[in-house]
Amino acid sequence: MSAGYVTVQWNRHKRIYDACVVGGIAVYLGVFFAVGKTLYAAPNAISDEILAMRALGTCAFLLLNIILCIGPAARLDRRCLPLLYNRRHLGVATFLVALAHAVIAIGFYHGFGNVSPFISLLTSNTNYGSLSAFPFQILGVLALLILFLMAATSHDFWLKNLGAPAWKRLHMLVYVAYGLLVMHVALGFLQTQRSPWLAALVGAGVVTVSSLHLIAGLREYRKDGRRTHCSQSSGTHAGETWVDVGSVDDIAEQRGSTVTIGESERIALFRTNGCISATTNVCAHQGGPLGEGKIIDGCITCPWHGWQYRPADGQSPPPFTERIATYRVRVVGRRVEIDPAPLPPGTAVEPARIAEDLK
Ligand code: HEM
Ligand code: FES
Repeated sequence: MSAGYVTVQWNRHKRIYDACVVGGIAVYLGVFFAVGKTLYAAPNAISDEILAMRALGTCAFLLLNIILCIGPAARLDRRCLPLLYNRRHLGVATFLVALAHAVIAIGFYHGFGNVSPFISLLTSNTNYGSLSAFPFQILGVLALLILFLMAATSHDFWLKNLGAPAWKRLHMLVYVAYGLLVMHVALGFLQTQRSPWLAALVGAGVVTVSSLHLIAGLREYRKDGRRTHCSQSSGTHAGETWVDVGSVDDIAEQRGSTVTIGESERIALFRTNGCISATTNVCAHQGGPLGEGKIIDGCITCPWHGWQYRPADGQSPPPFTERIATYRVRVVGRRVEIDPAPLPPGTAVEPARIAEDLK
């Protein structure tokens, strides 16, 4: 969160995560190299540089597929949430592996002429009109630039300075990078090797990433659809409209739940110590779904990276200073009612007490 600048905010969980990522990459590269050496034995031997390029290229592409699957998988199954927690380190690792692949490729294919390797990369093939001879490396360059932008702005410092919406939009470019890389791999490797295995693996990756996104999106859409048919009643004060959003029994103690009213943004409800509170569902960090979080140490705790807010006023506990919008809420019998007009971030709202005999 926002107290003081720390280059990398490591903790035990992140160290284990990072050790698994580095170990996984090392094992992948080692196995790829060993199997490659056996498969490409003389007389079909290929150079170590080409083998390294392939090991690093496929490793980076695989990592990117995993990164893109983590988001929807965490929405579909809460057990995947710990993977989401440190996804940015996985992104930086992907960039570094892809960079190593690109450096070897540029050095090997463009490093021995009398023009600079980068000029040679950009000018040696200009067959943009031909599918079979398309300069597929350029697609890799563009994707690498996007991965670089994302890795360079991955620190919370940039999130804070760019603002969550702009940062999020920038990081959505990952889908553009993915599209470019699918074309890079398809046009490049299939052009040179025409291996049915790589084609099948790339196809399997694209199908897995797209179906997980479709299933998770459909589930969210259905969830919203279920919640929009709420009855309304007028409030006791001018301008107040109370909307019935369900029963107190729909929310477990110390847990959150999400509702959508009409076309409004999602609202998160929390039940703690026999009271109901309501805040925006959007975490101030990276827009994580607060309603899928729980109450820890008396604070709403985001399921993605653990940022916390007090249920009564949407403010992060000191020394942190983040604030989120709150909503007026009341309990009538067993029913929870919300005034759907969001209050300015950090506004204190008296939590609605559930009557003793109804708790
Ligand atoms: C400056 C940027 C890049 C250049 C110049 C470049 C160049 C190349 C070349 C020359 C090949 C064919 C290698 C062979 O002879 O088999 C290739 C293949 C490939 N590249 Fe890239 N690439 C770049 C960026 C990337 C990035 C960012 C990724 C993934 C994140 C990537 C993933 C792959 C994969 C999976 C293959 C197919 C397997 C292979 O042959 O290594 N490349 N690239
Ligand atoms: S999105 Fe990161 S903590 Fe909420």
